[in-house]
Amino acid sequence: GTVYRDGALGRRPAVPTAFGDLERAARRASSKRAWAYVAGGAGEGRTMRNNRRAFDRWAIVPRMAHGVTERDLSTTVVNTSLPSPLLLAPVGAGALMATDSDLAIARGAAATGVPYIFSNQGCNPMEDCAAAMGSASRWFQLYWSSDEELVDSLLHRAEAIGAEAVVVTLDTTMLGWRPKDLNLGSLPFARGEGIAQYTSDPRFHDIVRQRIDAVRGMVTERPDITLGAIRTLMSMTRNHPGKFLDNLRSPVPRAAAETFLDIYSNPGLSWEHLATLRDRTRLPIVLKGILHPDDARRAVDLGVDAVVVSNHGGRQIDGSIASLDALLEIRAAVGREPTLLLDSGIRSGADVFVALALGADAVLLGRPYMYGLAVAGQRGVEEVIRNVIAEFDLTMALTGARSIADIDERFVRPNPSF
Ligand code: FNR
Repeated sequence: GTVYRDGALGRRPAVPTAFGDLERAARRASSKRAWAYVAGGAGEGRTMRNNRRAFDRWAIVPRMAHGVTERDLSTTVVNTSLPSPLLLAPVGAGALMATDSDLAIARGAAATGVPYIFSNQGCNPMEDCAAAMGSASRWFQLYWSSDEELVDSLLHRAEAIGAEAVVVTLDTTMLGWRPKDLNLGSLPFARGEGIAQYTSDPRFHDIVRQRIDAVRGMVTERPDITLGAIRTLMSMTRNHPGKFLDNLRSPVPRAAAETFLDIYSNPGLSWEHLATLRDRTRLPIVLKGILHPDDARRAVDLGVDAVVVSNHGGRQIDGSIASLDALLEIRAAVGREPTLLLDSGIRSGADVFVALALGADAVLLGRPYMYGLAVAGQRGVEEVIRNVIAEFDLTMALTGARSIADIDERFVRPNPSF
């Protein structure tokens, strides 16, 4: 209501209202490197296209004269009460777009009451983001480390900052094939963006100390590792944790830097690892990145609290199934009860409506709020969120849905014009 009224009163918005214009404005506001990373997708971009085409394949069929004047957008997922069926997806390396990006996003989310899922590859420590949010809802997203003690340490910290759930992302045990990043010859994390959750972690510091000893040992056998590299690594432990970032930005020789990369994920991640989670944290568990109905069934059998049907915004595998298409199959496979969230391709309030009609309990927003951040910082994030919610509310009003529970498949049909 307020968004519409502001527009009618002639108040100028901080970000363009339509997604296409927002995207263009964000591109103009971003460095080449930032744009390649945030907007880019895997391979030829087929998965990203599929995500959008899947929405085009459905048409909303509104009802008339339904007398709906008041809507209730609130809902509860995974024990978190939401003002609307929307959460902010975890997005790493946001520092490419803005300094202290995660703090700006945290404040923008808190101002709207929409939960923010802190990324494991975030640019600000989760403790700082939580402090910036006051009592507003936050979740934490985990990338399973090859170091099990680091997994425990991150889970422990997530509990301590009042995260209401832990989201384990399964689809990124390795970074996808992303031509836009590869063309620039410098991967996003090369300058230390997105490692704040690690550099603020006590277990990580132990690992660094151990690795330094290992590097010391390598010196005699590996003449290509220079003394300068050793010195850089040494200073990582001696100095303030923040120093680690500066050190990574300086030209650390490759061989030495690479000894650290293997702890950011575990390519051998399996259901056996996931089965240990329930005993390691009291937080509700959400598995993100599931696309196959059998994997969804397996997650439900494991007793997880929710699944995020997602293809990581089309960033991992080129030519993979659209998440909306996967949602239909997965909902059919698991039945009505299990909580299913959806992301990848949500661009508007009408998209949120379609996703809910096809079986999602709530959705995650990714790139749109990052574009808001690029264009207008915290205010941009807030405005993008408010716009999506306002259009969703309007779509409910115009179709005749009174509550989130009202929104079901009766409001949509395969698009005859597609
Ligand atoms: C992501 N995504 C992501 N997911 C995750 O679990 N941890 C992460 O650190 C990141 N990092 C990340 C960075 C950037 C720049 C993007 C665009 C995405 C995936 C994200 O959570 C979500 O699945 C998608 O962004 C949803 O798709 P849309 O809305 O961007 O199309």
